[in-house]
Amino acid sequence: MDINRIRQDFPILSHTVYGKPLVYFDNGATAQKPRCVVEKIVEMYESFNANVHRGVHFLSQAATDKHETSRITVQKFLNAKSPSEIIFTRGTTEAINLVASSFCRAFCKPDDEILITAMEHHANIVPWQLQGDITGVKLQVAPINADGELMLEEFEKKISERTKLISITHISNVLGTVNPIEKIIEIAHKHNIPVLIDAAQSVQHATVDVQKLNCDFLVFSSHKIYGPTGVGVLYGKEKWLNAMPPYQGGGEMIASVSFEKTTFNELPFKFEAGTPDFVGTTALATALNYVSEIGIDKIAQYEHELLEYATERLLAIPKLRIYGNAKQKCSLISFLVDGIHPYDMGMLLDKMGIAVRTGHHCAEPLMRELGIDSTVRASFAFYNTKEEIDVLVSGIERIRKMFE
Ligand code: ALA
Repeated sequence: MDINRIRQDFPILSHTVYGKPLVYFDNGATAQKPRCVVEKIVEMYESFNANVHRGVHFLSQAATDKHETSRITVQKFLNAKSPSEIIFTRGTTEAINLVASSFCRAFCKPDDEILITAMEHHANIVPWQLQGDITGVKLQVAPINADGELMLEEFEKKISERTKLISITHISNVLGTVNPIEKIIEIAHKHNIPVLIDAAQSVQHATVDVQKLNCDFLVFSSHKIYGPTGVGVLYGKEKWLNAMPPYQGGGEMIASVSFEKTTFNELPFKFEAGTPDFVGTTALATALNYVSEIGIDKIAQYEHELLEYATERLLAIPKLRIYGNAKQKCSLISFLVDGIHPYDMGMLLDKMGIAVRTGHHCAEPLMRELGIDSTVRASFAFYNTKEEIDVLVSGIERIRKMFE
């Protein structure tokens, strides 16, 4: 891959921060946008702005066509069977809330269980707890080992006749652990339990084929895969989506409405109440086409090189400890340096132009498991370079000396 050429597609990467070249290592929180995505948003508002599915006029038809073509782009990107299995949401969080609400109402009774892991993001914990208050469903949590890997045998032991759904992250946003989702789905299906994959941290780093995986639900966010904010995707097998009640009520999700009774639209519209972000979905499709053209496999290979290089260089720093040492790991590194609070580290790195994330990364229960409050996290994308990792390493070294 010609990284220098690729970097030119991302206008923000040539910016300076406090007079220093920006080193953007907060890709796990949100990725930067290539020019084609930004231009698509402008083009949509300048030339195609009209409400979708609601007008016979030219602009409405054109906007609808772009929005529905984007659904097909997502379908192909995930290799889903049909565009009806692609529901547009506001993001991963809303997609999980949708499944939690609709699935639990359809299939769960008091004391039924949802099985998750100890490395889940709050977005894959809290929606189930909210449903617990309504339906009485409870969370079961599968443990992880010291390297931050899921303990597969313990995981299987947590499955019982009360387990109604397994909801699991593909890649941990804190540890970088790549979970063995193929194996997990196989085990779950042996017990006739559906599986939801939180792919917020994975679709941008690894090829995801929902038919090959045979997962029942899969969710991701546009903004982490170089698309705009405010858009996400829920993939669901038709048999589940058809059996689940709508999540929200409003326009477009109905077949007919009277004051006495409402009947609902077919998939995918049943789950898309209100005016969708058709500008966002169209720009998401542009982002997916952009990464597909480069090739997710090539991206994965390059990012793995970055991970190996960064791991080796960071481990050479005295008193630095990496959290998350799974054998299968993706391109992010959480770390702490003895005696330096992660917020101090983050703020001082920022003054050097280096953007990292600090805090609990929306995974407080995992932090508790690790016996810490927070970490510094550097998360890499395919536009990052080894030279930028060198800048991070010398920045940490400088800060460490300041604290000595
Ligand atoms: N979940 C995102 C992160 O890990 C925001 O940073």
